[in-house]
This record gives sequence, structure tokens and C-alpha cells, in this order.
Amino acid sequence: MNTHPKHIAIIMDGNGRWAKKRLMPRTVGHARGAANVRQIVKAAHAVGLRYLTLFAFSSENWRRPPEEVSALMGLFLQYLESEVAEMKAAGIRLRVIGDRSAFAPLLQSRIDQAERDTAHNTGLHLTIAANYGGQWDVLTAVRAWQAAHPDRSLQELDPAALAMHLSTSDLPDPELLIRTGGESRISNFLLWQTAYTELYFTDLHWPDFDDAALSKALQWYSQRVRRFGRTDEQVQHSSAVEHTPTPDLVIQNGIKIG
Ligand code: IPE
Ligand code: IPE
Ligand code: MG
Repeated sequence: MNTHPKHIAIIMDGNGRWAKKRLMPRTVGHARGAANVRQIVKAAHAVGLRYLTLFAFSSENWRRPPEEVSALMGLFLQYLESEVAEMKAAGIRLRVIGDRSAFAPLLQSRIDQAERDTAHNTGLHLTIAANYGGQWDVLTAVRAWQAAHPDRSLQELDPAALAMHLSTSDLPDPELLIRTGGESRISNFLLWQTAYTELYFTDLHWPDFDDAALSKALQWYSQRVRRFGRTDEQVQHSSAVEHTPTPDLVIQNGIKIG
């Protein structure tokens, strides 16, 4: 049985369908979704989770109707304006990953401010992925590695070195990824970082994903056997003989195992 994960990543999907089912505009679903972020951050904090990473806006979501994109940007700004003071007091550290240069200057400056205001907090590390794409992250990391090592050949780039240049370089890889909304796909979220993540898909739409649903996902996770390529027998044997505490972050072949 696994202990609670340290890091959960969530693809918060299904806001539009939540609203459609109730004959309401999609933007109402997004507003309810934003309210639910507040609820789930609280629940995660309460269960002692160390890292929570939320997919809020993908690099492909710009393809949506302009009114919907601007409603989403407005909600993001509103979220930062209303939540940061409370996060600061609650010890939550907020960071945003993704290409923020595409955002309006006001939103960019609010993001910078929120990160600065909560930078010294050591409680839950909340990461919001906005204009984020997993392919962008990997490509950017390769380019950054090359820029940092102009005299070295790409042949020398290994998984651990690449991981150091990802936008999540200071986070352990998520042990559990939850996707709400009924689809079973990654949609260009954390591609590299989910190499050995347990994937949990639920039909619940994001606004309906509550504390009880989070507990259910944690319960499901606790029953998974994590083999990392080994056999069942090896896994059972190693957990029976290994009593030494594991360091916070062990990197094996570039996969961070918490
Ligand atoms: C997730 O809900 C929110 C974002 C992608 C920004 P959706 O808006 O994708 O909801 P559905 O999938 O259309 O129901
Ligand atoms: C994934 O949801 C992105 C976010 C939840 C932010 P989408 O609704 O954009 O995913 P697809 O297009 O159905 O794969
Ligand atoms: Mg969707």
C-alpha cells in the first residue's frame, strides 16, 4: 500500500460540459471551476500534500473562441487578485509555469507579484500551468541546456540534465495525475514528468470534483503497485528489506522518485 503522494497533478477538465448540462454559458462553468480550485487547494493543504500542479490553460486553448479565452484570462487575473493574500497567510507558495510572455502585461505583472509575495512560503507548493505545453517544456529545456553548455555536444545531454532545465526542475515528478471530465488523455500536459505517474481518470466534471472525490483518488492511488520496470517479487522484496529513509528526491534515469 502506498502512502499519500507528495505531488498530485490535475487536468481540470469538464467546465464547459458542466455548464452545458445546466443550459448555462461555458463561462459559468469556468467560474465554478475557478471556485473549485480554491476548494481543492484547501483540501490538498489539509491532507498535507506537498506539491499540487494544476493545468489551467494549455498552449492549444488559444484555439477557442476569443470571448472564451478572454473570460478565462479574466478569471485567472481575478483568482490571483482574490487568493494571493490568503495564500501568503496560509504558507502556500504559488508558482506559474508556461510561456507567460503571451499574456497581457497586467496579468504578467500580477503573476510576478504573486510569485514574489509567496516565494518564502514552505507549505503547499501550488503550481499553475498556464499557456503550458509539455512539448514546449521539453524543447525549451533542451535549448536551455545547450545555451548553458555551448562547448558540449548534444550527445552528452542525459535525462537528469534535461530535467534540470524543465519548468518543474524544483518539483519531484507527480506520483498521481488526476483528469476530470471523462477523457483519458494527457492533452500535452506534463509529458516528461509523468513517465511513471499513476493516471486516474474520473467522469466527474471539474466543478463537481470535491473533497470526497479527492479522497477516492487517493484511496485508488494507495492500492497501486509501483514497479518502475521491476517485477512484483523484486518490489515486495525491496519494501521488506529497505528500512532506510529515502531522500526527498531520488533521480533514477532522469525520473524523479519522491
Ligand atoms: C477545462 O474545461 C478548462 C479549460 C480547458 C480551460 P473545458 O472548458 O475544457 O470543459 P469541456 O471539456 O469543454 O467540458
Ligand atoms: C486540457 O483540457 C487543458 C486544461 C484542462 C487546461 P482540454 O479540454 O483543452 O483538452 P482536449 O482539447 O479535450 O484534449
Ligand atoms: Mg475540455
